[in-house]
Amino acid sequence: MQVFHHVASLREALAEARRDGKSVGFVPTMGNLHDAHIELVRIAQQHCDLVVVSIFVNRLQFGLNEDWDTYPRTTERDMARLRDAECDFLFHPDENEIYPNGMDQQTRVVCPAMTDVLCGASRPGHFEGVTTVVSKLFNIVQPDKAIFGIKDFQQLAIIRRMVEDLCIPVEIVAAPVHREVDGLAMSSRNGYITAEERPKVAVLNQSLNWVKDEIVVGCRDFAELEKEARSRIEEQGFRVDYFSICYSKDLQPAADDDKQITILGAMYTSAARLIDNVSLEL
Ligand code: PAF
Repeated sequence: MQVFHHVASLREALAEARRDGKSVGFVPTMGNLHDAHIELVRIAQQHCDLVVVSIFVNRLQFGLNEDWDTYPRTTERDMARLRDAECDFLFHPDENEIYPNGMDQQTRVVCPAMTDVLCGASRPGHFEGVTTVVSKLFNIVQPDKAIFGIKDFQQLAIIRRMVEDLCIPVEIVAAPVHREVDGLAMSSRNGYITAEERPKVAVLNQSLNWVKDEIVVGCRDFAELEKEARSRIEEQGFRVDYFSICYSKDLQPAADDDKQITILGAMYTSAARLIDNVSLEL
């Protein structure tokens, strides 16, 4: 695996690969890699000849009181995992390389659709930070395909929208949620879950699936389903950020006759904020 810290050297190596006719797959990450990230690399390898992974903990997408300073930086371990997974290129820039004019002066990419609901409601500015850095990374890597996990359903939907609106020539590939045996969606922040909380956190995924089953058998009282799901989560001692039954395409509250539905939830443990979702087609 070749490691690049600078845009210029990465571009040079990618230009050479393209001259050799290779297609490029891209997996952007913030590091602290777990099995779900490695699965994204595998999917990229199935789609493309050469795979680039980026590791950059993007301060622009963290709120002032969020965990940017304590976000786990595990670069040596991440590099070993990527080598084992036979990743071709790692792009590991520092902040000056990505924001040479400083973050305050950085031109921003704003996607007005879907950014102020769900995660966006409790994390103002978060998705602007994501779309800004992802568009920069797309410009740097210029991949044929980029792989994003469905676990971050809202992020995936916003990135698809940004790519469409800005005519960015990349195909977005959605990767299924990678789960622990009890259903907990894998996440870099799962390390913040305490041993006491760990057996209970599957309640988020269980509640999403319970709602899904109720909708499949015909229940359309969405407000009541959301209320019941919230109380199941609260009974386990967690605070609910949101629990919403949405139309999959625009993430607005679902109507009775919508055929594509995504149920999304977010809850707080003592030190983590966990998100998950399930989708269904009726
Ligand atoms: O999903 C993430 O890890 C981040 O939001 C991303 C896409 C790497 C942008 O910083």
